[in-house]
Amino acid sequence: MTCATRVEFEAAEEPTGPSPVSLWQLLRGPRADPLARWTAIAREHGAVARYRLGLGRRTLVSNAEGAKRVLQENAANYVKQHATYSLLRRLFGNGLFTSNGDFWLRQRRLAQPAFHRERITAMGEQMAAAAADTARSWEARASSGGAVSIFDEMTVLTLRVVGDALFGSGLAEEAAALGKAWDTLNNQLAERAARMWFVPPVLPTRYDRDFRRARKAVNEVVDSMIAAKRRPGAASGDLLSMLIEARDADDGTQMTDAQLRDEVRTMLFAGHETTATALSWTWALLAQHPEAERKLHAELDRVLQGRTPRAADFMELRFTKAVLEESMRLHPPAYLLIRRAVADDVVCGKRVRKGSVVILSPLLLHRSPLYWEKPDDFVPERWFDAEAERKRPRFAWVPFGGGPRQCIGNSFAMMEAVLILATLAQRFAPRLADGYALRPEYRVLARPAEGAPMVIEKRATRS
Ligand code: HEM
Repeated sequence: MTCATRVEFEAAEEPTGPSPVSLWQLLRGPRADPLARWTAIAREHGAVARYRLGLGRRTLVSNAEGAKRVLQENAANYVKQHATYSLLRRLFGNGLFTSNGDFWLRQRRLAQPAFHRERITAMGEQMAAAAADTARSWEARASSGGAVSIFDEMTVLTLRVVGDALFGSGLAEEAAALGKAWDTLNNQLAERAARMWFVPPVLPTRYDRDFRRARKAVNEVVDSMIAAKRRPGAASGDLLSMLIEARDADDGTQMTDAQLRDEVRTMLFAGHETTATALSWTWALLAQHPEAERKLHAELDRVLQGRTPRAADFMELRFTKAVLEESMRLHPPAYLLIRRAVADDVVCGKRVRKGSVVILSPLLLHRSPLYWEKPDDFVPERWFDAEAERKRPRFAWVPFGGGPRQCIGNSFAMMEAVLILATLAQRFAPRLADGYALRPEYRVLARPAEGAPMVIEKRATRS
């Protein structure tokens, strides 16, 4: 840890902040637009501000220098300890996303090889095959003319991809049960977090029973997959096989079934709705920006010449990747990163007290005029401006977080999203349904409201 010394802490300023949001306002319902609220706080009180939410005190860190301090330079001082993580632990146990300290480090080292670039490249074929199946179902949809939820479409697809990558055999039969269970768990997580209702789901109410039942359904699928993979000869180069075989470099130990279950549940869920959300925003933004869509189509035609994309095309599909990067800049799925300070620290000259909850929002960093020209505009071309990129601080773009706790699946997600977008945009140009106003809905992730109803149109049929 590189914590501030006592003298530095005493010399630093106390952060200021707005008047508190009362407990009553909180209990009444979900928070108002967090981007507007945080932007106003940051504008008035600077890069490090303190505010009260109900009974809790929070420190909002809103510039790249502060994000670097919290996520990287002094990462060991900022742990994942908050009621939100306690809730998530009820789902993921002590998996990579929710664990801390030495245990997290050991698990991260064991899991890391499964995400090496060559492994991900090898999964490219499964990713493109899954997208090609969706393309077949969109053929039928395209002639019906009705609207579908693009978020639901992308969720089914990314759940399949992560299932294929994790388990090799795919989750075709289990996907529906898992999807349904995840819906229940996800809805309840969002409701509980919004209302700050952190009581464990142990009551004999229908609501709590639904939570427990959904969690049991997930565990059953995961446990049977682990048991199947442990059978002699069943290992097949998928993520789960790699996690089963991984050995700690120091003591040679392997993961127990309980640890495997936690990691698999974590990756199954951390790894599908995030990518589905990024893709849903991307489709909606493309529908709103015909010029960007035209450039995307031109790149796909030039690079692919009508064939299905492969992992080897990734480097060539530069505009496709820029579209996704720009979409995640405007609408980072994980819009809120939460930490707790273990000891007093100084961030950008302001005191962060031991025990404070620290809030970092990629939304604020990604929309800051300090780092981005026309920050609210969708401009994929900005990702080709090498000079602007050189000047921009690393922590100005953090859809995957940063520092040691950066998303382990970031390369996986980029490969997957590029291949899915390329496969489907080659043939289809989804339109926003008439009367639908695109806007965010802040849940565990920030997704397009109402699942973004869109009409699947074939590209060739458009004028
Ligand atoms: C577009 C897709 C994705 C986005 C936007 C995303 C975003 C993030 C972010 C922001 C974090 C850091 C959270 C924090 O610091 O508090 C994170 C961590 C994590 N993500 Fe992702 N993620 C994506 C895809 C994936 C995929 C595909 C997987 C797995 C297959 C995955 C697995 C994880 C895990 C296990 C962690 C915890 C890592 C650790 O703490 O060591 N994510 N993700």
